Amino acid sequence: MSEIEKHLLIVEDEAALRVPTAERLTDHGFTVVQAESGEEALKHLSSFAFDIVLTDLRLPGITGMEVITEAIERYPEITAIVITAFGTVENAVDALKLGAADYVSKPFRFDALLHSLSTALERKRLRSENAYLKAQLQERYRFNNLIGASRPMRDLFELLATVAPTNTTVLITGETGTGKELVARAIHHGSSRRTHRFVALSCSAIPETLLEAELFGHVRGAFTGAVDSRLGRLEQAHKGTLFLDEVGTMSPALQAKLLRVIQEREFERLGGTKTIGIDVRILAATNSDLVALIAEGKFREDLYYRLNVIPVHLPPLRERQEDIPLLAQHLLQRLGRDLTPPRKGMVLSQDVVRQLMTYSWPGNIRELENVVERALTFSQGRSQIELTHLPSHIQAVSDSVTAQGPSTLPDQGLSLETYIKDIERQFIKLSLDKAKGNKRRAADLLGLKRTTLVEKMKRLGC
Ligand SMILES: Nc1ncnc2c1ncn2[C@@H]1O[C@H](COP(=O)(O)OP(=O)(O)OP(=O)(O)O)[C@@H](O)[C@H]1O
Ligand SMILES: [Mg+2]
Repeated sequence: MSEIEKHLLIVEDEAALRVPTAERLTDHGFTVVQAESGEEALKHLSSFAFDIVLTDLRLPGITGMEVITEAIERYPEITAIVITAFGTVENAVDALKLGAADYVSKPFRFDALLHSLSTALERKRLRSENAYLKAQLQERYRFNNLIGASRPMRDLFELLATVAPTNTTVLITGETGTGKELVARAIHHGSSRRTHRFVALSCSAIPETLLEAELFGHVRGAFTGAVDSRLGRLEQAHKGTLFLDEVGTMSPALQAKLLRVIQEREFERLGGTKTIGIDVRILAATNSDLVALIAEGKFREDLYYRLNVIPVHLPPLRERQEDIPLLAQHLLQRLGRDLTPPRKGMVLSQDVVRQLMTYSWPGNIRELENVVERALTFSQGRSQIELTHLPSHIQAVSDSVTAQGPSTLPDQGLSLETYIKDIERQFIKLSLDKAKGNKRRAADLLGLKRTTLVEKMKRLGC
């Protein structure tokens, strides 16, 4: 079978079935990763885009059904095949309903499995409609328009659900393109202020003198050119939310005025004498380190504490690789829908998803958005995004670990066993360093059980 380079995850707790099946699949050109529990399978799925998941339904702990649900939700293009115990066909039917491609009943002949795999893959290749349409993002992976499946994002959704309905000031931090403005909008939409305005003001986009007028408004004749009086953004946001973006760039004088607004809920328009009371919720964002700015005397400490009542930090995309497949799909659907004519139901090949997960995304989600948009342009007339539709610098990145692998074989040859043991030792040392000596964490980092790590350390003399 010509399924070279198909990545397959086999999930089966019975080693006597799993190990030989994995070996024979490897002989048939599949790259196989084994998991002996549902928990382990989910861990693998969160960091790698497999082409195929082959799972037993009955597993201790997390069931095969949950593995399938999760796999299909994250990677609608994945081919899922279930292994069922004799006499439990009803479960297999449930799995098919969830989107599994086929099932094999235990005990099965290897040929039967191979046949089922090749039929499923062939059907996938020919199929015109696709799973993205069916795979609706579940509520647990979104909060308003924010998408995320990773632990930090799910924690963030919980925090936002608690904080949004209150009147609390929130300081949103994170690198460029991580979604700070989207978080601010989500907070506004999750509050009772949603029927009033969300007003955004970027403090860095406007020269300082104008910024003050923009924020507080001005009366007629307040300064040269002020022929009319004008409402500032603060007043526009009355009863709603004011989002102060790049707040770290505000001048000290303006910082003092803002502090007064937050404390007293009142201000005067530029050139005006009347004090105006205001009901506004303030959200602020910055990609600079305000604590460092305080130390340099560029940001007021008292204002920092007023803004930072609830800190919300958005980790960079490279630290939540697990979110990339969902985000990429979401952006593909969103951007495809906005085109004229719309291109609905576009899919990403699993190769593409793997490559996107390997890249480091210095521009975070905004950069991902640009890459998806470009891919849509380059894939005109097709329904699937392929590797060639990605920019060359993203096509070129390779997994840093495998990229460092050997590239030549010494003339005199080498002892493969010694070489592999040596690599094992190096990774064990690296993982223990990273886990500060904690063996359980180190084992997690290497995808091993703690006992297996300890055994290996003994065997290798680490
Ligand atoms: N979790 C997410 N789910 C879906 N889309 C997202 C998410 N985070 C960001 N985006 C999208 O990525 C783009 C950038 O997000 P946003 O403008 O909120 O980032 P930012 O942190 O404010 O960036 P900057 O610091 O450059 O202003 C937007 O189009 C936004 O819709
Ligand atoms: Mg922004």
